[in-house]
Amino acid sequence: MRVIFLSPRYPNEMRQFTRGLAEVGVEVLGVGDGHPDPELRRYLSDYLEVPSLTDEDDLIRRIHGWLRGRSVDRILANWEPLVLTAARLNEMFGLPGMSVDTVRGFRDKQLMKERVAAAGVRVPKSSRARSIDDVRRALEETGYPAIIKPISGAGSADTFRVDSPDALADILPQLRHVAEASCEEFIQGQEFTYDTVCIQGKPVYESVTQYLPNALEMRSQEWVSPIMLSVRDMTQPHIARGVELGRRALAALNMGDGMTHMEWFLKPDGEVVFGEIACRPGGACVVDLMNYTGDVDLFREWARSVCWHAFEVSTERKYNVGIVFKRAKGQGRITAITGLAQFYDRYRNHIVEDTLLRPGAQRRDWKATLLSDGYIIVRHPVWQTARDMAIDAATDIQLYAS
Ligand SMILES: Nc1ncnc2c1ncn2[C@@H]1O[C@H](COP(=O)(O)OP(=O)(O)OP(=O)(O)O)[C@@H](O)[C@H]1O
Ligand SMILES: [Mg+2]
Repeated sequence: MRVIFLSPRYPNEMRQFTRGLAEVGVEVLGVGDGHPDPELRRYLSDYLEVPSLTDEDDLIRRIHGWLRGRSVDRILANWEPLVLTAARLNEMFGLPGMSVDTVRGFRDKQLMKERVAAAGVRVPKSSRARSIDDVRRALEETGYPAIIKPISGAGSADTFRVDSPDALADILPQLRHVAEASCEEFIQGQEFTYDTVCIQGKPVYESVTQYLPNALEMRSQEWVSPIMLSVRDMTQPHIARGVELGRRALAALNMGDGMTHMEWFLKPDGEVVFGEIACRPGGACVVDLMNYTGDVDLFREWARSVCWHAFEVSTERKYNVGIVFKRAKGQGRITAITGLAQFYDRYRNHIVEDTLLRPGAQRRDWKATLLSDGYIIVRHPVWQTARDMAIDAATDIQLYAS
């Protein structure tokens, strides 16, 4: 089998998916906007370097010319900006894969909610806005607090909670560059993910992760150390309701092969509400969390699923796995870390990864990447213990920069 994989270099975890493809016996043709290093090159049987992955017409023309009669069996993408491009290419080449119309249901947040709601799933009240007047009208109807966000957003960029008409006046200028927005009822509640690997729309692997705090807060407040905690026991009633909601969303959107990443809310009264869904894996180490949860390699099993319609690892969940992202105080280079030695003394056996930047390293842009100034991953079979460890890492470890 021969597949084209779009953007094997970026984001970073795409390297792992490329490895997965190679390890299940597939010939991988990579297409990306930069040069693959020797390690990545080992997994690629050919590589097309393009000037831009966002100029879709140019990209398609170049791929056409490059293939010159070589046949391919699949065209795959696991990065949000490229899932529609892959669908277009698949349609053009007559290859299996979700149609452009199906993938639009995973990209357009209004269409997505309409399709999911039509299947009887609870979604936030929402409407599409193409002008400032549309926004005003929409919020008059949904009331406050409300959420305004780009129709095809990612990374919580340009997503705003609006508490009053006065606050709206302050926010509108910041949305000037957003062509289309989704205006939504604000859902108060805890936020979780529902992640899957699907074969022909059926989840063969499922996972739930809790955000602490909710994604919008972790993305908008620098002092927060965001935590994501995979939930080992998915049979707990409130989690099982989220899983059920996720399954119905997948069916409503006509999911095909591949990974999905959904977000949902649990309200204080126990109701579960759909947030959004993507037909690609979650970023920010979500796949690593799932791998540590069951000691599996989903980078490879994703490849096996999409290429061979087979899934061969156990879905047993052994641990609750917590990742804690840290942001240093101050700008410039890291000068010190406090609390880390004590954290190791207490929890050494439960720490599975530590990428915290060490003194001398340049701080990263926390707005651009949730990875921030590094992270630490802990795991434990007991939920409360895993949660306590993650919260200790969030509160007791501190990085400084100057
Ligand atoms: N209707 C809503 N009610 C409450 N919170 C919301 C609502 N819509 C979005 N949010 C918050 O804003 C965050 C970002 O929104 P959303 O997930 O739709 O955008 P995104 O940019 O695609 O996110 P990402 O790529 O980070 O997953 C959500 O994870 C959630 O915390
Ligand atoms: Mg989201």
